[in-house]
Amino acid sequence: MVTLETASSKIGSRPMDDAEFERWARLLETRTGVIVPPERKPFLETGLRRRMRATGHTQFDSYYDSVSTGTGGALEWASLVDHLTVHETHFFRHPPSFELIREQWLPQWLAKAAPDDSVHALSVGCSTGEEAYSLALMLDAELAKSSPVHRFGVTATDVSQSALGVARTAEYPMRRFAELPASYRAGIEVLSDGENFRITERLRKRVGFACVNLLHASRAPLRKLDIIFCQNVLIYFARERRRELLDGLAGLVQPGGLLVLGPGEAPGWSHPLMRKTGGPQTLAFVRNT
Ligand SMILES: C[S@@+](CC[C@H](N)C(=O)[O-])C[C@H]1O[C@@H](n2cnc3c(N)ncnc32)[C@H](O)[C@@H]1O
Repeated sequence: MVTLETASSKIGSRPMDDAEFERWARLLETRTGVIVPPERKPFLETGLRRRMRATGHTQFDSYYDSVSTGTGGALEWASLVDHLTVHETHFFRHPPSFELIREQWLPQWLAKAAPDDSVHALSVGCSTGEEAYSLALMLDAELAKSSPVHRFGVTATDVSQSALGVARTAEYPMRRFAELPASYRAGIEVLSDGENFRITERLRKRVGFACVNLLHASRAPLRKLDIIFCQNVLIYFARERRRELLDGLAGLVQPGGLLVLGPGEAPGWSHPLMRKTGGPQTLAFVRNT
C-alpha cells in the first residue's frame, strides 16, 4: 500500500519532464485560457505536487487521468485550478482606473440618467473580492451625492471557488485597511476582534459572486453592463485569445458603458463599437451609443 507520506517522497524525487510540462500546460490553457510559459514551470509543478500529495498520486500521468475523468475529476480540477492561478489583488489596485470612473464616466452617465436608472458593474477575475468591493464602495459614495440617489449592483466572477469563498465572507485583515481611500471607508466596519474588517451588510447585498470561466463569459446569463472591470487577468492569456475574449466582453457592454482593462493588457486591440477613453495612465473603452 502507498501511504500519503511515501507518495509525497516519491513525487519529490523526479522533476517533471518537458513532455509532462507541455501536457499539463496545454490542459490548463484549454480549460482556463491561462498560459504557463516555460519559466513558470516551477509554479505549475509546485501546484501540481501539492494536489498530488493531497490526493495520494505519485505520477503526473495518473493524476492527469484522474482530473480528466468523471465527477470526481471535475471536483479535483476545481481544487487544482486554485493552485495554478494567481490570486494577488488589492483594494483600489489601479487608482487611475477608479478615478476615470469617478471623474469622467460617472458624471456623463448621471447627466443622461433617468431617475430610476441604476449602474450595473461586472468585475471579471475578481479573485478574493477586493476589486468588486472597491467598485461598490466607490459607486455607493459617489451615487449618494446625486439627486435622486441612483442604485447600483456589482456582479463579480472568477474561476476559482476558493477565492470566491473568501470574497463572499467580505472579511479582510486590518493590514489591508490602508488600501481604502479615507472617503470610501463608510462602507466597512471593523470587527470586534480588532484584527479584521468587513464590508457592511448594506453593501454586501449589492455585490453578487459567481463562478464563471472567462472563456464562457459571453455566454453567461449576464445583463448588459454599464461598467466592466477586467484587470490583471488577460495578462495570463495568449494574445490571440485575449482578442476573442475582449470582443466577447465588448458585446456585454451597454451603449455608453465602459470597459476598463489593465494598462498594457490588450496591445493593439480595437473594436468597431468601442472607442478609447481616458488618459495615458488607463486603458479603457466606451461603447458607442
Ligand atoms: C491576479 S488575479 C486579478 C484580481 C483582480 N482583477 C485584480 O486586478 O486585482 C487573477 C484572477 O483571474 C482568475 N482567472 C484566471 N483564469 C480565469 C478564467 N478563465 N476565468 C475566470 N477567472 C479566471 C484567477 O482565478 C484570479 O483570481
